[in-house]
Amino acid sequence: MELSSLVSLVAPILLLVLFVILVATFALRTEPRSSSVKGLPPGNFGWWVIGETLEFMFGNPENFVLSRMRKYSPHIFKTKIMGEETAVICGPEGNKFLFSNEQKLFTAFRPQTTQKLFRSYQSAATASVQIAREEETKVFRSPGFLKPEALVRYLDKMDAITQQQMKKYWENRDQVEAFTLSKTLTLTLACRFFLGIDEPERISLLVNHFDDITVGMHSLPLDFPGTGFYKANKAAKAIRRELKEVIKEKKAAMVAGASMQDVLCHMIVATDEAGKFMAETEIADKIMGLLVAGYSTVATAMTFFMKYVGERPDIYAKILAEQLEVESGKKAGKLLEWDDIQKMKYSWNVMCEVMRLTPALQGTFRLALSDFTYAGYTVPKGWKIYWTVSTTNKNPEYFPEPQKFDPSRYDEGNKLPAFAFVPFGGGPRTCPGKEYARLAILTFVHNVVKRFEWELVNPKEKIVWRMMPTPANALPIRLSPRHSTTS
Ligand code: HEM
Repeated sequence: MELSSLVSLVAPILLLVLFVILVATFALRTEPRSSSVKGLPPGNFGWWVIGETLEFMFGNPENFVLSRMRKYSPHIFKTKIMGEETAVICGPEGNKFLFSNEQKLFTAFRPQTTQKLFRSYQSAATASVQIAREEETKVFRSPGFLKPEALVRYLDKMDAITQQQMKKYWENRDQVEAFTLSKTLTLTLACRFFLGIDEPERISLLVNHFDDITVGMHSLPLDFPGTGFYKANKAAKAIRRELKEVIKEKKAAMVAGASMQDVLCHMIVATDEAGKFMAETEIADKIMGLLVAGYSTVATAMTFFMKYVGERPDIYAKILAEQLEVESGKKAGKLLEWDDIQKMKYSWNVMCEVMRLTPALQGTFRLALSDFTYAGYTVPKGWKIYWTVSTTNKNPEYFPEPQKFDPSRYDEGNKLPAFAFVPFGGGPRTCPGKEYARLAILTFVHNVVKRFEWELVNPKEKIVWRMMPTPANALPIRLSPRHSTTS
């Protein structure tokens, strides 16, 4: 049989199988009651079964939101994504409403893919799962290992690791892939501070697995060979296996009296109110969640910094001037300190503009704990709520000439409207890794501008949107040592 006839025979069967799996994934779920509720938000649930999932996941997230805000309402609209009836709450007022009603009207909700990959999130939105999530969040926040007081102690090591990475992977190279090297750097930092491991071979093994998980989290929950979700599940199993090994080694070292300060050690010795230790599987899941949350977001922010600043020599020159000023106040060879970071105001403003134009994380979901009314519309209990930075970041009302890269928007005198710029969320669920991210990013900025000038190899490189923005070819850049006259 010829290849073309074989393809025409097999293709419809494959399509049918795909369709059945989609129906089984989405349609056989218990739908929340909504038909009896009056005054639902305007909007469209989209296609039967799939809803508007494909546009949401694979299109440009800004277009998805802005076109519907124009069509239905600038405050709220309904849609159906990933099998869930969802209300998207928009604008600064919407952000404020959401962030200030945490645990009153809303609680956190993770889409099916995330629930399945991170087993401790479990499947349904039951009360016990909600409590488990709150406990999990406390584990991330309560011991304070991501708070500034604790981070002060990480800073010199963070600087030392960044310098090592620059020497090893950046220096003496004409061309590098900014995205690839940023990922190696952020994972190395995360492995050091969260797991206490330094071995590069172990870390490079993990990089691919984490990339697979990030893609799988933002794909359809179709679990068969060839799908992104299938690959992500395999990667999650491999990481859990590796983490359990690390936990065993750590426990043995702690018994032998070694003193350690990483997040993993804290989790090993932490007990709940009944004095019980956390199970190893649970620790592995939580650490994996922390690594995923803190790895690709930071790497994405660093990568787009390289892109935008690579396009703007004027902005590069200002950042360099600031960083050389920081450098001049220090003894030669001394590592970065907390006060140095506080002086990097212009550099951080540039990062804010990078995160406004290309946010690493778009937004997150919540679950409505009871019926509620917003902007005159009723949202039923059990619906999912989505908030996203895209409803404000490009709005000329808050950011005049929104496409223009202009770090002066964040100057002290220029007050932005409250809740219009929330790259790290807000309220009780504000990203707990915000300060860690700021330190890692500014340490990177300090080291990269001091050493190099760069230009984009392909200024028109496409950005692929799989919920997170990714440069299609990992952002190749041409590097040259900084001319000492550039300042
Ligand atoms: C540029 C880097 C980062 C950005 C833009 C970012 C952004 C965000 C956003 C928007 C949220 C959602 C808040 C919400 O649901 O309202 C979030 C949550 C979270 N982030 Fe980050 N983040 C970054 C880095 C990090 C880092 C480095 C870590 C870990 C060290 C981290 C850990 C977390 C965790 C654990 C949550 C979930 C908190 C919860 O559900 O209560 N993030 N982040």
